[in-house]
Amino acid sequence: MPQTIAVLDFGSQLTQVIARRIRECQVYSRIYHFSTPAAQLRADGIVGIILSGGPQSVYAKTAPHPDPEIFKLGVPILGICFGVQLMGHFLGGKVALSKAREYGLGQLTIKKPGKLFAGLPRTLRIWNSHGDKLTELPPGFVATAVSDNSPFSGIEDKKRGFYGIQFHPEVFHTERGVDMIRNFLVGICGAAQDWTTKDFIAHSVADIRSKVGKGRVLLGLSGGVDSSVAAALLHKAIGKQLTCVFVDNGLLRKGERDYVEALYKRNFKIDLRVVDASALFLRRLKGISEPEQKRKIIGRTFVEVFEKTLKSIEGRAEFLGQGTLYPDVIESVSIAGNPASLIKTHHNVGGLPERMKLKLIEPLRELFKDEVRQVGAALGLPKEVVWRQPFPGPGLGVRVMGDITPDKLEILRNADAVLQDEMMASGYYWKVWQSFAVFLPVKTVGVFGDERTYDYVIALRIVESVDAMTADWAKLPHDLLGKISSRITNEVRGVSRVVLDISSKPPATIEWE
Ligand code: XMP
Repeated sequence: MPQTIAVLDFGSQLTQVIARRIRECQVYSRIYHFSTPAAQLRADGIVGIILSGGPQSVYAKTAPHPDPEIFKLGVPILGICFGVQLMGHFLGGKVALSKAREYGLGQLTIKKPGKLFAGLPRTLRIWNSHGDKLTELPPGFVATAVSDNSPFSGIEDKKRGFYGIQFHPEVFHTERGVDMIRNFLVGICGAAQDWTTKDFIAHSVADIRSKVGKGRVLLGLSGGVDSSVAAALLHKAIGKQLTCVFVDNGLLRKGERDYVEALYKRNFKIDLRVVDASALFLRRLKGISEPEQKRKIIGRTFVEVFEKTLKSIEGRAEFLGQGTLYPDVIESVSIAGNPASLIKTHHNVGGLPERMKLKLIEPLRELFKDEVRQVGAALGLPKEVVWRQPFPGPGLGVRVMGDITPDKLEILRNADAVLQDEMMASGYYWKVWQSFAVFLPVKTVGVFGDERTYDYVIALRIVESVDAMTADWAKLPHDLLGKISSRITNEVRGVSRVVLDISSKPPATIEWE
């Protein structure tokens, strides 16, 4: 086991972000329940402790408190936000109750750099989010930094190796926050910086093996980044004990099913079951134009087909694998209970794990998207999978406007394939957030040779974004757009006009639905 930093979770939504920053410093950490006995931390050989933030007041009846013995373990401790309040409360300082929260950006002035602020400028932008604040230092502590409204924004007891900061170093808005965390991990705790993606994989493989034993895991593979990386990781861990299911809902892009089969079945030798349910999906979608209704039908049919397929697979499975990432995890934590264990997941295929008595196994649930990509690349997944653009679950179902027919899907698939081809060839595929074609059920007049045509319209939706919450249309070179348009009208039968969507989100959304 590598040298471990313990992060005690007091219910902050940012606890996983602290863990992520620690990984960025290539140090190994584990998130522990706030009440973990000091004896267990000692037995685990931890070399330092970080006390996370938390939404409660230290005085609240239900406030999460650590085992007081952690302050006697002889390892350095860094208290963040609520963590500082705890230090004040447990070590003989004073914490003032406050009704208002101090929230947002502030300025930190470092008075005494010490080891925690070593190498940093004297003033820094910081991000605060706290209610109560420390009003009297515990014995042995000195103030090291002040902010606009706190004389104790940074505190330390050098002798015992106890440090506290009132703000959040883990958030992006705090300038040089990662350097403060690194100073604590390396400069103060002496932790080794040897934790890499390869180590994550090895550790995760061992963890999956011990959880699964001789059991069987089923995983729904969509072909997207998350489920693909989860499949590759599970396969590395348990090989033939993993069975993947890929549902062809008839709403896939051109060649998608073949690609997934070729990659996983032939290349990775994964036990992959491809279920062709396209006829069922298209039958149920026949004549349906309303977007919400389409989504409901697609979602319900997927769960039904998936469940039926799982039941039909020989041998009993105990586990359902899922590519849940940390941002998918809903941060609804209960402080009175166990914050770490009460975090719920969504995407859990409509209550299916409970109905089928399957235990969830989610090897990526602590990772962020970019980390998942690194894991995927290290496992040997091709760039096309690791850097794949997002694709909605309901697939082309939300990209054919109006009712869905096999003919319209065929036109859309062919147009979309031309677009992807040109995006790949020009390299813009990797530079934009998403690029796809949309089928418009509008017929317009055109000329083809001497013939007058009356054909459909294809819209191009090509956007830039960082998180899909907001987006802007991508300003691609005109000659590239011209080439895409002329190739679509020349090569795709049934299309005589191509238009470009130049709306931003908001007010428009990325998908047309
Ligand atoms: P919108 O259209 O809301 O899309 O701007 C934001 C992002 O989410 C994707 N998207 C979906 N993904 N199921 C999914 O798995 C869906 O129903 C769905 N709808 C939209 C969309 O492609 C974009 O990346």
